[in-house]
Amino acid sequence: MSSPLQNRRVLSGMRPTGPLHLGNYHGALKNWIELQYQYECYFFIADWHALTTGYEDTSRLEEFVWTMAIDWLAAGLNPGVATLFIQSRVPEHAELHLLLSMITPLGWLERVPSYKDQQSQLSDRDLATYGFLGYPLLQSADILLYRAQFVPVGEDQVAHVEITREVARRFNHIYGREPEFEHKVEKAIKSLGSRNSALYRALRKEFQEKGTADALAKARALLESNARLTVADRDRLLGYLEGTGISILAEPEALLTATPKVPGLDGRKMSKSYGNTIGLREEPDSVAKKLKAMQTDPARARRNDPGDPEKCPVWELHKVYSSPETQGWVQAGCRSAGIGCLECKAPLIEKVLEEITSIAKRAQEFEENPELVRGIIAEGCERAREAARNTLETVRQAMAMDYR
Ligand code: TRP
Ligand code: SF4
Repeated sequence: MSSPLQNRRVLSGMRPTGPLHLGNYHGALKNWIELQYQYECYFFIADWHALTTGYEDTSRLEEFVWTMAIDWLAAGLNPGVATLFIQSRVPEHAELHLLLSMITPLGWLERVPSYKDQQSQLSDRDLATYGFLGYPLLQSADILLYRAQFVPVGEDQVAHVEITREVARRFNHIYGREPEFEHKVEKAIKSLGSRNSALYRALRKEFQEKGTADALAKARALLESNARLTVADRDRLLGYLEGTGISILAEPEALLTATPKVPGLDGRKMSKSYGNTIGLREEPDSVAKKLKAMQTDPARARRNDPGDPEKCPVWELHKVYSSPETQGWVQAGCRSAGIGCLECKAPLIEKVLEEITSIAKRAQEFEENPELVRGIIAEGCERAREAARNTLETVRQAMAMDYR
């Protein structure tokens, strides 16, 4: 695979708390599946995160981990281009989390909105734990470990990416510049090839001496388009270009992609905690039954009452699944009472069943071949570890803890 953004990393994770549903699929997974062809992607099953709220009952954790791996593969995550792994199999996450915990002020964690929110939402669990308080920092470690530029997440996670940026900044501030920075920069410049290294030096000189914005832009473009450059070297050369030195830890950005909002059967957001979901691999009969019973515009109590699609969650699903023609038919038929709700749902049910049966079919191949799944994940874990080790080495050096 070669793409212009190959040296841009994307990272995201999901908690293995049960089989995925259509909300997870359209809200996150489909987006990941596109991103994997545009960036170097790391996607992981966040089993340690699952412990932060679910530590009391771990009996089904393993089952959920493998279900998630199969859900991902069946939906179209491609281990040929993306690195798929399990968090706890890369213990570097824990080491970086520990090191970062030393420099993270308690107040930062106490102020993360999800801390108080979740404690009151999950009031049946005791979440007055050290692990739960530290969970956004574990997430920071997840992200920083891979020097990820972009983190595709939902709105509810943006605060966690924000705290990650603050932690990175604080770390860089405390532990300063990379040891042997100049030396590493020289090596990186050489790796550009003789023509490009001369060009880079000339552009840098011009920018540093005259502040020419054009020279800066050209030099950046040169670094962007160079596929041979490693992620770390590109950061070094960007830092050298702008005179800031390298940031040991790179500040990530949340990647908020517009994803359709998938309503659950009761019209609220589809979510396991509301019990209103349709499973990604649920039995077709059960799915059809659920959709037939799905909430519609309450104004249509009788067949002859006209309705308003804007007040109907079924319409939200049509927006995800149906062609413009079908959507036009729904709009007209609903408002004029020309069609009944069951009639309206029929083409939708067909599309949903088509989608889940093809996913279930692919899933079955993986179900029948657990060794294949384990192999894919084992390979992903190895690749992830390699990237993680590199970052930790730099971190240990920066902290003067690289004695062996
Ligand atoms: N906290 C995320 C969630 O609950 C999952 C997650 C863990 C994650 N680590 C991450 C997401 C790192 C993005 C990046 O959904
Ligand atoms: Fe909803 Fe369709 Fe019924 Fe209108 S006709 S209320 S859009 S299910």
